[in-house]
Amino acid sequence: MSSRPVPVLPMSCAAEFRALVESRRAIRRFTAELVPDGVILDCLQTAVLAPSSCNLQPWSFQVVRDPALLQELHPVCLRQGAAKAPLLIAVLARPDTWRQACADVIEHWPEPLVPERIRHFYETIAPFQYNQGTFGLRGFFKRLLLRMTGLKHPVMRSPNSHEEMRLWAVKSTALAAQNLMLAFQSHGYSTCPMEGFDDMRLREVLPIPPHAIPILLLAVGKEGEHAVYNPRLRFPLEGHVTWH
Ligand SMILES: Cc1cc2nc3c(=O)[nH]c(=O)nc-3n(C[C@H](O)[C@H](O)[C@H](O)COP(=O)(O)O)c2cc1C
Repeated sequence: MSSRPVPVLPMSCAAEFRALVESRRAIRRFTAELVPDGVILDCLQTAVLAPSSCNLQPWSFQVVRDPALLQELHPVCLRQGAAKAPLLIAVLARPDTWRQACADVIEHWPEPLVPERIRHFYETIAPFQYNQGTFGLRGFFKRLLLRMTGLKHPVMRSPNSHEEMRLWAVKSTALAAQNLMLAFQSHGYSTCPMEGFDDMRLREVLPIPPHAIPILLLAVGKEGEHAVYNPRLRFPLEGHVTWH
């Protein structure tokens, strides 16, 4: 097990992080100013620092800067104000990439030798967990098996269907999406996450792989006039937190 020095963050880090998070709002009007590619790249690199299930990084991003494509995407996004941004990023959850990702972990392992436990996990355990088989049949039998073995001791009961694989991928991808928004915010660019779009028509405009799930179209740009529609509203924390 490798150990590392615990990073020492500046004293003000918590306050600065809180200020960054507070400064992000859903922005519905953008100026025409373009977002430099260097900024986009830096933000994507920050996005993929998000944690992911078994580090399989089940996400991909399609970066749309081309004005003609942006124009086509506006009606796809139901002609929302935010969709007139100079940059749209389709954030895709990828329940379909785990097999390649298992191979990639071993190929890109950041040490000269791949530890045996890592090799075993990504060659044996992970395929057992994530391979649901044709028509989800393997998943079905795994569910039965786990129901039996789960009588005796705790077991991991999902993902054991194609539907659960979708949820599995969406969880990790949502974390990357939040990183992405905060990264743009830290560069002085605003964002609006949008699920208000026509998934079917989106696939006619962008080459979205058939099993990929577009979880959000992220609008990005410089904040325009009257860009925030409502004051911030959050429910009191007491109603949403249980302390044990
Ligand atoms: C999953 C998700 C989907 C959203 N879809 C849209 C959308 O289609 N259009 C839009 O204008 N805002 C959309 N929003 C933004 C929310 O309306 C906004 O985050 C919420 O009202 C809270 O405001 P705030 O982000 O400024 O704090 C979405 C946010 C999330 C997390």
